[in-house]
Amino acid sequence: MKFILSGNNPLSGSIEVSGAKNAALKMISAAILISGKTELENVPKIIDVENMLLILKSIGGEYSWGGNKVTIDTTNVSKHDLTIDISRKLRGSVVYVGSLLAKFGKVTLPFPGGCNIGKRPIDYHIDLFQNLGISVVEENETYIFEKQGEASSEVTLLGRSVTVTENAILYLTLLKGNTTTVRNCAAEPEIDDLINFLNSAGANIKRIDEETIEVTGVDKLNETSHRVMGDRIEAGTWLVLGLLLGDNLKITGFDPKFLEAPLGIAKGMNGNIEVGSGSITVNKSELVSKDITTGVYPEFPTDLQSPFGLLLTQSTGTATLNETVFNDRFKYLHDLVDMGADIKIESKNKAVITGPRKLSGRIIESADLRAGATMVLAGLIADGTTEVDKAEVIDRGYEKIDDKLSRIGAKIQRES
Ligand code: EPU
Repeated sequence: MKFILSGNNPLSGSIEVSGAKNAALKMISAAILISGKTELENVPKIIDVENMLLILKSIGGEYSWGGNKVTIDTTNVSKHDLTIDISRKLRGSVVYVGSLLAKFGKVTLPFPGGCNIGKRPIDYHIDLFQNLGISVVEENETYIFEKQGEASSEVTLLGRSVTVTENAILYLTLLKGNTTTVRNCAAEPEIDDLINFLNSAGANIKRIDEETIEVTGVDKLNETSHRVMGDRIEAGTWLVLGLLLGDNLKITGFDPKFLEAPLGIAKGMNGNIEVGSGSITVNKSELVSKDITTGVYPEFPTDLQSPFGLLLTQSTGTATLNETVFNDRFKYLHDLVDMGADIKIESKNKAVITGPRKLSGRIIESADLRAGATMVLAGLIADGTTEVDKAEVIDRGYEKIDDKLSRIGAKIQRES
């Protein structure tokens, strides 16, 4: 599958972001903790979500789609071993460990997969569970987690990881009688959306501060309905598009407060942006360069590093792009250089970008989900035609990207 892009024409009208992938995936796992039905609204119809639901089905769960609503019934979930073929397809499968351990006390997890963005070990997960009284054995590229002892009343995560924080919450939610303080947690808004969802089902989870969460176990969770938050990363992707090509481009369906760091950078670059409640309106801008460093929320998100890398190629001046979260998320920069950008890649985590430089169309492959979306944006501002191959990588995280972009005037075609 590929996308063919051309144009460099103004984009206007309204583009609505879908529900947040990285919140929806965890709620599908969390549904295992709920006795009866779970209704999730605003679920993005993307390949990662489909795969997460297929994993649920493989262990006995049932689900049905109605528009963007998914109804899940986990009454018949009876297995605790995840199959190798699907769980390798997405990193999010690692959050099944917390829920299945809570339900069965044992889980088998083949080494998880995910985007190719650098070393993605699960040592923090293993350390977390060992501190919570779980034994972890590694056998034939599979981990076996098994409950042995009691959880301690305090645990400190080895690193401020999103999925490790979520696994801690998922496991501790049903540990009745225990109150556990989890320290060194991540603060991404998708974690808090998961907490709100679980609390709406009767859980007792409190965020004490940016790095601390307290979970008091309850004996059961009840049926609930929850609307998944809008995807701040998708919104940030369209923010970049608006700064490059927008003609009063309105981006809706998300809360701009979760996009504070990227909006701050974009405004500091001279971006013409009007922030509303639940939307932003963006215009093509005469941009000036600004240094960007990624970090744990509320710092600048690593998932927007690549669209903003593209933005720096179109801004006047020289700026440094520092990636501090993942150690191999710069592959797309080589493609931008091929298209005419001026980029010095100084290391796997530091690049110096000088702009503005005109880009010309090329045949490119999606290196990972966010890099693939960035190449779609690059194709829309480049001279001539750009072909982005491996479009299915982009479909993992962006719902109907071609339809959404066509509706605001972009020239994008999907070909198999
Ligand atoms: N890390 C370890 N050991 C671990 C776990 C993490 O060393 O056991 C390191 C990672 O290698 C990385 C850092 O900790 O250097 C942070 O990784 P984190 O665990 O926070 O990432 P994640 O939970 O695997 C989630 C999102 C990513 C997003 C990151 C950071 C999901 C399913 N994925 O990944 O989303 O980039 O948090 O915000 O929630 C994406 O959507 O494109 C994507 C990659």
